[in-house]
Parts: sequence; structure tokens; C-alpha cells
Amino acid sequence: MRLGVIAGLIVSILQLFPTGDWAGRMVAEKQPVTLAAMEALFDTQHGAPLVIIGQHDVANRTIDNPILVPKMLSFLTYRRWNPEVKGLNEVPQRDWPQNIPLLYFAYHIMVGLGTLFIAVMGIAALLLWRRKLYDARWMLWLLTLMFPLPYIANTAGWITAEMGRQPWLVYGLMRTEEGFSKMVSAGNGWFTFLGFAGMYTVLSFLFFFLVRREIEHGPDSSGPVAAQQQPGQLSPAEVR
Ligand code: HEM
Repeated sequence: MRLGVIAGLIVSILQLFPTGDWAGRMVAEKQPVTLAAMEALFDTQHGAPLVIIGQHDVANRTIDNPILVPKMLSFLTYRRWNPEVKGLNEVPQRDWPQNIPLLYFAYHIMVGLGTLFIAVMGIAALLLWRRKLYDARWMLWLLTLMFPLPYIANTAGWITAEMGRQPWLVYGLMRTEEGFSKMVSAGNGWFTFLGFAGMYTVLSFLFFFLVRREIEHGPDSSGPVAAQQQPGQLSPAEVR
């Protein structure tokens, strides 16, 4: 638990900075249209805002009910408050990612979950430091229930990268529709897809089986964690 909380806090922070921040600035430099779509920025703006929440209206090229942080997108991208960030209106619509709502929501789910991870792991680390973590049942439950969220964040990140690079196979040079093989039939594509889906289904059942077995087994009573336990203090297994 101790190792998990410390590692979780460090990794959650690293996910935002430097890795997430670096990925964002790379996208801004190499794929500015992708950045505009991820952030729902239609008009080119100096001091562009960061959209925290809001729904796309792609037909009218606007975003409804936005909650904005003024100038923040310019700052995160260029480390200055007023630089210009190019909007989607700068390029013809045929060069936009086709599914902007999916891209926008996938990106915001990933970053939202990343922020949640930092907050929860920060509070858990504080409780650990103050020796209150094992008594804080609400936090133990929260940590347990949050276990699917990193998988969702990963999938959302992957969707962001894949949707964001559309409609290009080689960015700016070769479109996706020019890149598929005419030799491979749709049936072949389905066969491979279902084969992979089947393999991952088997692997996920194996994963749940192994996790369940570990939980039922509980912590090793002769291990270093048990040895560090204070007299009268509940072990994590007893807390359950
Ligand atoms: C905390 C704030 C985060 C920021 C600012 C951030 C930023 C980004 C950006 C800008 C991209 C797009 C890169 C591209 O289009 O090539 C990306 C991709 C990705 N992110 Fe995040 N991210 C964050 C959190 C997370 C978290 C918490 C996870 C998973 C636990 C995650 C997993 C991924 C994955 C798997 C990709 C796709 C990588 C690829 O296939 O190239 N991100 N992230």
C-alpha cells in the first residue's frame, strides 16, 4: 500500500509534467490542427483560452456552454500569455480530424482523469505521511474503486492520438484513404480484428482471475509490511 501510494503519486505527477506537457507542446508544433481540434479552438486567437468543459457545435463552428481559463492554452503551449494559437478555421474542413467530438472528449477525459489521479494520490500520500491512511476507510474504498480509471485514461489517450492524426497517415503528406491496401479484403480485416479481440478477451479474463486470486490470498503475513506493523494496528487485510 505504502509503495503503491508513493509510486502512484510520483507517476501521476510525471504524467502531467513533463510527459503530458511535452506531448501537448509536440502536438502544437507538429500537428497544430490536431491541437485546435483537441481544444475546440475554431478561431485563431492571441491569448487563447483553455476549455475545461463545453460541447462542440461543429456545424456552427462554436462551442456551447464553455468553462474557459483565459489565455491558458497560449501559456501552456508557449509559456507566454499572448502568443497566437491557430484555430480550425485556418484550414479547409477536409483537413480537420473527422470526429472532432470524440477527439475532444477523449482528450478531456484523459486530462481530467490525470488531474483526478494527482488529487487523490496527493491526499492518500498526505494520509500515509500522517499515519492515518489505514484507518481512512473512505480513502481505501476510493483507491480500490478507482482501479479501472487508468485503463480508461490509457484508452482515451490512445483515441486522442489516433483520432488526432486523422485524416493523415503521414501527417500533411499522405491521407488515410490513400494508405489502405487494395490486396487485403474487408473479410481479412474482420478476421484479424476478431482474432485480436478474442485474444484480449482471454487475457482480460486471466487478468481478473489472477487479481482475484491475489486479493483472496491477502498480504503475506511474514513479509516486511507485516513486520513493520505496530502492535494493535490493523493490517490492510483486516481493514477490509
Ligand atoms: C495529466 C494530464 C495529461 C496530459 C496533459 C496529457 C497529454 C497528452 C497528449 C497531448 C497526448 C496526445 C499525443 C499525440 O496526439 O500524439 C496524449 C496521449 C496519450 N496519453 Fe496523455 N496526458 C495526460 C494524462 C494521461 C494519463 C493519466 C494517461 C494514462 C494513465 C495518459 C495516457 C496517454 C496515452 C496512452 C496516449 C497515447 C500515446 C500514443 O499512442 O501516442 N495520459 N497525452
